[in-house]
Amino acid sequence: MTTLLHLDASARNPSISRQLSAEFAQAWRTAAPAGTYRYRDVAADPVPFIDAGWTEICDAALAAGVTDLDELAGLARTPAQTAAWAVVEPLLAELRSADVVLIGTPMYNYSIPAALKAWLDQVTFPRMSLAPRRFVVATARGGAYSPGSPKAAFDYQERFLRDFFAGHFAVTDTVFINAELANSRVDPALAQFRTGHDASLTAALNTARALAAEYAK
Ligand SMILES: Cc1cc2nc3c(=O)[nH]c(=O)nc-3n(C[C@H](O)[C@H](O)[C@H](O)COP(=O)(O)O)c2cc1C
Repeated sequence: MTTLLHLDASARNPSISRQLSAEFAQAWRTAAPAGTYRYRDVAADPVPFIDAGWTEICDAALAAGVTDLDELAGLARTPAQTAAWAVVEPLLAELRSADVVLIGTPMYNYSIPAALKAWLDQVTFPRMSLAPRRFVVATARGGAYSPGSPKAAFDYQERFLRDFFAGHFAVTDTVFINAELANSRVDPALAQFRTGHDASLTAALNTARALAAEYAK
């Protein structure tokens, strides 16, 4: 039976990326009522930054040529390494149990929030193989970055995550669902873009529902 891991990373609540990811999760749970649903809010309940113990486990894995995640636990020996592993282990278990990983995230400074990067740093060890899974990223951004827009080249959020999941997790079909022009809601100087934002959000919500139903099969 299929398992969905749902992460949110926005510092705001309510937020548009949370609205989008919740729409996906709700549709997924409706389509897969017997599935397992797990939720983690890395903004409200932050994952610690990796520490020296974490880097020692990582270096030991590289030195020993370890490529099996199940062998990582045995590399944690000192108190610092054991403490680091106690943080990593539940996060990794959650990720490994998921068939679909759904990430709701705002664009911060053209990229992802530090809270999400902290989670990625914790769960990513070089050369480790992970069984195939699907990633869906539901984003909200103040401006517009879709192909052809003047700031398209500044979208380091989608490019980073797409390359990251391809490079580390061999996932080459990450789906991005982006709600754009969100700042038109709050900035009077951008009021002319409100219609564009509303259309972008509606399209994103529709895509989230349709994709969730497909991925729940
Ligand atoms: C710290 C911070 C940095 C931001 N940087 C950008 C940015 O680089 N580009 C952009 O288009 N919007 C930026 N925004 C606007 C957010 O992407 C926008 O408010 C979006 O709706 C946030 O998602 P949320 O509604 O899920 O919180 C930024 C907002 C914050 C709070």
